[in-house]
Amino acid sequence: MCGIVGYIGTQTATEILLSGLEKLEYRGYDSAGIATVLEGDIHCVRAKGKLYNLREKLERENPAQIGIGHTRWATHGKPEEYNAHPHMDMAKRVAVVQNGIIENYRELREELKQLGHDFRSDTDTEVIPHLIAEFLSINSRPQKEHVATLPLAILSPVGATDTFLNGGGIVGSLVGIRDEGGSSRPKVLSPNSPSLFLEAVRQAVNKLEGAFAIAVICADYPDELIIARQQAPLSIGFGQGEFLCASDTLALVAHTRAVLTLENGELARLTPLGVEVYSFAGDRLKKHPRTLNWNPITVEKQGFRHFMLKEIHEQPGVVRAVLEAYLENDWNSAESSKMPIQLGLPIELYADLEQIQIIACGTSWHASLVGKYLLEQLAGIPTTVHYASEFRYAPPPLTANTLTIGVTQSGETADTLAALAMDKERRRSQLPQYQSRLLGITNRPDSSLAALVPQIIATHAGIEIGVAATKTFIAQLLTFYCLALDLSYRRRTLSLKRLEEIINGLRQLPAEIEMILEVQERYIQELTPQFADTQDFIFIGRGINFPIALEGALKLKEISYIHAEGYPAGELKHGPIALLDSKVPVVAIAMPGSVYEKVISNAQEAKARDARLIGVTPMNDPEASETFDNLIPVPAVEELLSPILTVIPLQLLAYHIAARRGLDVDQPRNLAKSVTVE
Ligand code: F6R
Repeated sequence: MCGIVGYIGTQTATEILLSGLEKLEYRGYDSAGIATVLEGDIHCVRAKGKLYNLREKLERENPAQIGIGHTRWATHGKPEEYNAHPHMDMAKRVAVVQNGIIENYRELREELKQLGHDFRSDTDTEVIPHLIAEFLSINSRPQKEHVATLPLAILSPVGATDTFLNGGGIVGSLVGIRDEGGSSRPKVLSPNSPSLFLEAVRQAVNKLEGAFAIAVICADYPDELIIARQQAPLSIGFGQGEFLCASDTLALVAHTRAVLTLENGELARLTPLGVEVYSFAGDRLKKHPRTLNWNPITVEKQGFRHFMLKEIHEQPGVVRAVLEAYLENDWNSAESSKMPIQLGLPIELYADLEQIQIIACGTSWHASLVGKYLLEQLAGIPTTVHYASEFRYAPPPLTANTLTIGVTQSGETADTLAALAMDKERRRSQLPQYQSRLLGITNRPDSSLAALVPQIIATHAGIEIGVAATKTFIAQLLTFYCLALDLSYRRRTLSLKRLEEIINGLRQLPAEIEMILEVQERYIQELTPQFADTQDFIFIGRGINFPIALEGALKLKEISYIHAEGYPAGELKHGPIALLDSKVPVVAIAMPGSVYEKVISNAQEAKARDARLIGVTPMNDPEASETFDNLIPVPAVEELLSPILTVIPLQLLAYHIAARRGLDVDQPRNLAKSVTVE
């Protein structure tokens, strides 16, 4: 959440920062701001609301060639202008943008207050410029005075850092390191820090606890942009005589393909001459940029009213792309020596596999529930699915020979990354059979997830701009089909004939989705005026379509702000049925297969309570026509493959209800696409 950008070079910074922020607005959009250094001063402009408000406020002529920018998703403090980033110190010499959460900001704020600092915002971030300014001021004093300030805990060496100066010039950088016994001993790290500003930022980040990425400028150091990363994404772009930084490479590709992603505990100094990378301890690190092999993304709606609608319509192409990437083209059951699925995963990942645990959040969690169904029913492997935020603090007992799969479209979700890291760590000291086997499923193979796990299955959906996940969900489902089929082939849990049948069914899906989009969209659109006053929706499904009921409810609530719940259809009578009356529509997913009749009966129970019934059913099904008030039919496919089709009408229903209400479908209130805070 929150997007940060920075620029230093020979061009006018403001426009570059603004266009970078446009690419990052998906990360948060409740306020935005930009700070530049011009003629010895910081110029900071901030605005509440969307980026266009900031654009309007910006002075026309600002030739500054260095600056930082921010688009915010509020964590601490309301989305008001005074809480918008950049934040500055009291003298307005240091400006900082931050993505993340500073967990110890209260203690730091109190200590800084004792030193005479006043704060203007409710944010956790504001302590950072104050802290940097404090270190800058101490570092420029003679050594005696510096030592005299040490009794304050904030300025004393904790974990790392203390710089000794001689008449304003650095002669050696001393770092106090707590050893095992807790005592402090100084260690000389570098004979000369290249800059007092860098040193002050380094000292400051060593005082911060939490997950953060920051970019800092200082009016007194107009040729330096300092950035740091701890558990929040931050990449550097290497241009021609210019350098940029951003929370996502998406904001860099318009300028350069040469990119270096900082790792946790690293900071960098960007000047017009180059980039230097250091550890938080002060060691200079050797790093080389990599070349991004993708083109600048054309972030355009291509005639669609919203990105979300465009992305719903891209789904047939996404299904084709995943199948093309992972299915062996000319495989058939007669030629069984070839592998039908090619995921490129090492054999060790599969060896003696007894359990799979999947960790995810939100829509990715729903995709994982479908994944569990497939892995258990096709490959016969007991599978559990965990909310990452719950797993972190109450992990299940360790199981042997377990594959842990992290599912995150962005690859940046803080809870998912932390849960995976925790599981990896707790297995480290265990017997060989308990060692971690980690696999990631993500749409961003260049994300933090990729750095954390050794194996990735890329979902090939292309960049998704709409905050509500649609095409990335379909792509996650497809990768789970491929993984489950690969495992069933290797474990011989399915006959080759059955495998071939499923694969053939998968290949039909793109055309079937196209048919739904062509035939049903207008009908769904025409249906929506009837829900103008609806305040609650219930979605029901069973078996492999229960997660689709959850996903349908989530899509509707997040973009239309209508209260919606998803239930396994059989659970309705155990409580939720009390909610039903003529004002509460019930959407039932009833596809032929093991639970078809059961769902129809559960829907009848709802009808008996006057609920209006909408059925996502197979085309030309007489029983469904009798039961439901409205039908949104999809092609009749076998139950196992049906989630790929049944979710499409639910996405369209949510979209058209929200669009009709005139809501900001692509950037719904309170949400952000990349949830990089806990
Ligand atoms: C809903 C949605 C969210 C995300 C969730 C996890 O439409 O997009 O629920 O699915 O925040 O995000 P990722 O998949 O990036 O980990």
